[in-house]
Amino acid sequence: MNSARKESNPALAIEIAGIKFKNPVMTASGTFGYGKEFSPYTDLGGLGAIVVKGLSLNPRQGNPSPRIVETPCGMLNAIGLQNVGVDAFIKEKLPALKGVDTKVIANIFGETVDDYVEVAKRLDAAQGVAAVEINISCPNVKKGGIIFGTDPLEAHRVVSAVKGSTRLPVITKLSPNVTDIKVMAKAVEEAGTDAISLINTLTGMVIDVEKRRPVLATTTGGLSGPAIRPIAVRMVWQARQAVKVPLIGMGGIMTAKDALEFIIAGATAVQVGTANFVDPDSAIKVADGIAEYVTRHKTSVKELVGSLKV
Ligand SMILES: Cc1cc2nc3c(=O)[nH]c(=O)nc-3n(C[C@H](O)[C@H](O)[C@H](O)COP(=O)(O)O)c2cc1C
Repeated sequence: MNSARKESNPALAIEIAGIKFKNPVMTASGTFGYGKEFSPYTDLGGLGAIVVKGLSLNPRQGNPSPRIVETPCGMLNAIGLQNVGVDAFIKEKLPALKGVDTKVIANIFGETVDDYVEVAKRLDAAQGVAAVEINISCPNVKKGGIIFGTDPLEAHRVVSAVKGSTRLPVITKLSPNVTDIKVMAKAVEEAGTDAISLINTLTGMVIDVEKRRPVLATTTGGLSGPAIRPIAVRMVWQARQAVKVPLIGMGGIMTAKDALEFIIAGATAVQVGTANFVDPDSAIKVADGIAEYVTRHKTSVKELVGSLKV
């Protein structure tokens, strides 16, 4: 067993909002199902945490196909937040993770503030959820479709409402589709979020020139993978200077070296997303590589966080 997966390797252990994680590597929402699906391919117990697919109040079918297209160094997706709904998650998916030695983080979303609050309340009453991660990259139907995550006032409203409705630690996941990430980071910190994760996907578009049609049925989609990594690292670094709460960085992490960029820029933990489509064991390999790095440099993840020299 590699050192990353040892129960207590103090050089890898981190803490966010009072939760202790054995290592800083988590799987990103929407790229790792509800966790259990990946158990034949990777060591779930070696992960710092599993962040499950975004959960809504009611089940959702998602968007019509095609809803995924490969792009240079990444992919564009428009899954449309397909999921089983929070109740089925609690009843059918969550019990399968009982006994797996990792933390489960529930990613949630809604079309109104009340939706978010209700999903958070139901998770609060469930056993086995360590924290909620709020995906604010969703249109607020009551506000004419304005995206919660691009308006600081709306972001503040949804985060403070969720904070007031659950005892679970709240992580707010920021959208990169804004002019100034610092403004959004400050807004959600002021609203009481316990941590911030970033970044979600960047809006993109691919055209089939023979048909002169968009490739995705929804015309646009969310770009992820290595193509977005330098933007994500820059945003983590900017957010680190704007707020005090812990950050969880993601965007195109394929290797331990990629993950270390985020940690050195100021992230306490990282999430691995698109890489899971290439190799379902990626997150474990990232954790093992970080273990090797901290040993070689005689340091710890805690010491590395925000250690960038500029
Ligand atoms: C197919 C797919 C589905 C996703 N679904 C969600 C989701 O349900 N909720 C969410 O907050 N982020 C979702 N994301 C965004 C990822 O969690 C992550 O923020 C983003 O892809 C950047 O990381 P990466 O480049 O490592 O994939 C999804 C991404 C992909 C590729």
